[in-house]
Amino acid sequence: MLPVPPLETTADTEPFDSRLARRLRECDDFFRQPELAHLDAQRRRSALEQLRRTGTYLQTAEEILIGARLAWRNHSRCVGRKHWRSLKLLDARRVRSARDLAEVCWQHLHMATNGGAVQSMITVGPPRQADGRESRVVSPQLLRYAGYRNGDGTVTGDAAHVAITEFARKLGWRGAGTPFDLLPVLISTPDEPIRWFEVPRELAREVEIEHPDFDWFAGLDLKWHAVPAVSNMNLEIGGVTYPFAPFNGWYVGTEIGARNLSDTNRYNMLPLIADMMGLDTSHPRTLWRDQASIELNRAVLHSYRKAGVHIVDHHTVAKQFCEHAEKEKAAGRTCPTDWSWINPPISSGLTPTFHRYFDPPDDGLRPNFVRRDTT
Ligand code: ARG
Repeated sequence: MLPVPPLETTADTEPFDSRLARRLRECDDFFRQPELAHLDAQRRRSALEQLRRTGTYLQTAEEILIGARLAWRNHSRCVGRKHWRSLKLLDARRVRSARDLAEVCWQHLHMATNGGAVQSMITVGPPRQADGRESRVVSPQLLRYAGYRNGDGTVTGDAAHVAITEFARKLGWRGAGTPFDLLPVLISTPDEPIRWFEVPRELAREVEIEHPDFDWFAGLDLKWHAVPAVSNMNLEIGGVTYPFAPFNGWYVGTEIGARNLSDTNRYNMLPLIADMMGLDTSHPRTLWRDQASIELNRAVLHSYRKAGVHIVDHHTVAKQFCEHAEKEKAAGRTCPTDWSWINPPISSGLTPTFHRYFDPPDDGLRPNFVRRDTT
């Protein structure tokens, strides 16, 4: 079966009246944020009036930039929020065709990669129209590796992307069949069927993984991309939804070393690494997985650093997050936090985020990045 992402979103199943009432409330709240205190009160009234009359309203680039920064600050699952003020905006609201939106994605990747000094960015395309029609990136991120299901049930590549790879194939894309084929970016607009665009090679910076002590490690031929650019979340600001809003920060090493390359339903590299290390894998109690995982994570941090691509380790980011949460408190704000997401997948007890509670997550808080129930 073709895993075509349905076009409806949860927001569209909400009755029109309650949806409008909610948007009006979000708009009113937004223009009362201290970060927008420099705008005159007339701006809030005109936005509300336009929203009530037409179902949407035109925001300024400044409002979107502030809104996107607040969305980052409000997002309970992000451990990197200390840097929320540094987010840069690429305003692509006037771009219409899938082809031109793809070009904007390439520009985003170029600016975000920034020669390795990864820069936090968001590109904002056309807002969802009052009639619900929208443009969006269908792919989960701008850079993702394909996964091919083999005849014997094994997967070549990233097993998390078997469905989207199959979908791209049905659209006519053909990958080389290696473990690290970059998937094309899939884009949907109101006026065209979903289209795919091959990422220009030179824009997809990658890091080959080697180990500081184990010479054989480079022979595993592992690599990962420099920039995590999430593209399947809606940006919601002041009652307006931007479905086309790819954004990126920089990687925490564990995202790659302790999840992407080691989860059994991703690249599942720990058994091979343990073998190469000569570990006793006969029983879980030998902690062979743990030992292999630490070496893989050391290799990731070492390789990104050597390649000059910005990355942060889980100890440093956890410390930064605790400082951020304290600062937010001192500023009189809550810092809604999903404890299970901001703690690292390895060695969590060695980081300060493990040993304390935070304000509970608040899914209703806006502006925010909101998961689509598609893709
Ligand atoms: N965990 C995702 C990945 O491994 C990326 C999510 C966003 N991460 C970030 N550091 N901004 O690709």
